[in-house]
Amino acid sequence: MNIRAATAQDAPAISEMLQKLVAAGKRTARADIEFVRENYTDNPVGIRCCLAEDEKGSLLGIQSLIHATEGNRYETPVGWGIIGTHVSPDAARRGVGRRLFECSREAAIEAGLSKIEAFIGKDNIVAQSYYERLGFETFRHTDTAVCKVWTRES
Ligand SMILES: CC(C)(COP(=O)(O)OP(=O)(O)OC[C@H]1O[C@@H](n2cnc3c(N)ncnc32)[C@H](O)[C@@H]1OP(=O)(O)O)[C@@H](O)C(=O)NCCC(=O)NCCS
Repeated sequence: MNIRAATAQDAPAISEMLQKLVAAGKRTARADIEFVRENYTDNPVGIRCCLAEDEKGSLLGIQSLIHATEGNRYETPVGWGIIGTHVSPDAARRGVGRRLFECSREAAIEAGLSKIEAFIGKDNIVAQSYYERLGFETFRHTDTAVCKVWTRES
């Protein structure tokens, strides 16, 4: 598995993978190319969008890490990071998510973040287990989500 930073040129392949997640019932948000560019590969408040691909260059998953800025839609405290993970249904539970976080964690430390928040659907038990496994801890709940936080070791 190869891990690298995603670019705008990856947006069509990322969109295709997100559409597979929608078809598999694992995603309800938009999955079009414009959405991918705005939110993941070319987000003006993006820190790094890490991408995992197999030896043939097929996309396995992405993880986006962005700055929580004033007025962010998740109401994450300003100055923290916000993370989102999307692994292809064809590549689930093979360690892709875990490898992606090594990349994002490095980016978070380089960016000087001390906290990262994940906003997870309250019924999304797999994603909750995933983030817990990476050391994220429950920080708050909303009507629809559980928010888990990673804290940099001092
Ligand atoms: C959640 C998600 C990112 C996990 O990615 P992944 O590459 O499958 O995860 P990994 O193989 O790296 O697994 C890491 C850990 O996550 C947990 N995990 C992953 N899949 C799991 C499952 N099906 N059931 C229970 N725990 C699971 C386990 O603790 C696992 O560690 P282990 O295999 O040593 O037990 C992936 O399932 C996904 O993209 N889901 C759909 C989109 C989504 O819900 N994203 C999160 C939005 S907030």
